Amino acid sequence: MTTYNIALLAGDGTGKEVTDEAVKVLKAVGKKYSIDFNFEPALIGGCAYDEYKKPLPDVTLDIAKKSDAVLLGAVGDWKYDTLPPDVRPERALLGIRKELNLFANLRPATVYPELTSLSPLKEEFVSGTDIMIVRELTGDVYFGTPKGIENKNGEKFGFNNMCYFESEIRRIAHVAFKVAMQRNKKLCSVDKANVLDVSRLWREVVADVAKEYPEVELSNMYVDNAAMQIIRNPKQFDVMLTGNIFGDILSDEASMLSGSLGLLPSASLSDTKLAMYEPIHGSAPDLKGQNVVNPIATILSAAMMLKYSFNLDKEHDDIVNAVRKALKDGYRTKDISQNGMEIVGTDKMGNVIKDNVLQN
Ligand code: IPM
Ligand code: MG
Repeated sequence: MTTYNIALLAGDGTGKEVTDEAVKVLKAVGKKYSIDFNFEPALIGGCAYDEYKKPLPDVTLDIAKKSDAVLLGAVGDWKYDTLPPDVRPERALLGIRKELNLFANLRPATVYPELTSLSPLKEEFVSGTDIMIVRELTGDVYFGTPKGIENKNGEKFGFNNMCYFESEIRRIAHVAFKVAMQRNKKLCSVDKANVLDVSRLWREVVADVAKEYPEVELSNMYVDNAAMQIIRNPKQFDVMLTGNIFGDILSDEASMLSGSLGLLPSASLSDTKLAMYEPIHGSAPDLKGQNVVNPIATILSAAMMLKYSFNLDKEHDDIVNAVRKALKDGYRTKDISQNGMEIVGTDKMGNVIKDNVLQN
């Protein structure tokens, strides 16, 4: 029996509720296919700060580094809002991405046929949308230096640095082209090359990498136009390649096409085999303990883990099909409730999906 060691970082707020359901579903997959998923819990975010005065303690990092993959819930709670910036829960996310070198963030924005009416956009525009955003995750203005707030010319001056090395652009571009090769071979690279030097380099390097993937149709789009096109005609996109900050913004925007943040998973990959999987939504501390949040984003993140970390494609498909069956059968958490359909809690949704995995 194969064993996979998974670092389980539930985090804050509703993080534990959603990861509990994903664990349930992974265990069902394990039972069905005789795979041993072994979970090692560790603290991250505000709960880690409470215990260790650090949002990303060394012991957590150690467990993550020794694991085969990391499953993360979410971090953050209003009660940590007054902490100094370097120990706030969000810092742990940036820290773990950097420490594990998770430079490639895959964020699919899929509109499920069962849920098209939930989208704030007209159904005819969104139905069939299936975008994969490939976001660079360890560079850009997020990590660039110099940065800070200083006094200058008699007033305060705040600054960050948007910067990329050619090698950083090259490696994320390769990921995006490879993803495009496995999909519809269409890649749109997003930048602001009409204004930013760093974007001019981005565009140049992406064009160079493109030579190695002659089958992929590459287009370039300015980020402001991309933000508009995602709303105007989302179906034109297959794979989108972005830097860190543009991807942060566009992936939230694209997630809304599906109608709920609670549906969308993500994978963060490195160039070693270690990767991290997490829902794209936050910790929703106001909903903690109420059994109302949607576990689907985290369950689908676990499915991505099976595919990208363990090459378990069939098992991945089983989970995706189990989620779709639950939706088709009319199970709805509150965030995706529709007229006449029964609203179920977080744990019930997890149970239904788990049972579907075992039955199909
Ligand atoms: C995300 C989040 C994070 C980011 C925050 C919480 C640091 O918005 O994963 O998209 O900006 O990357
Ligand atoms: Mg974000």
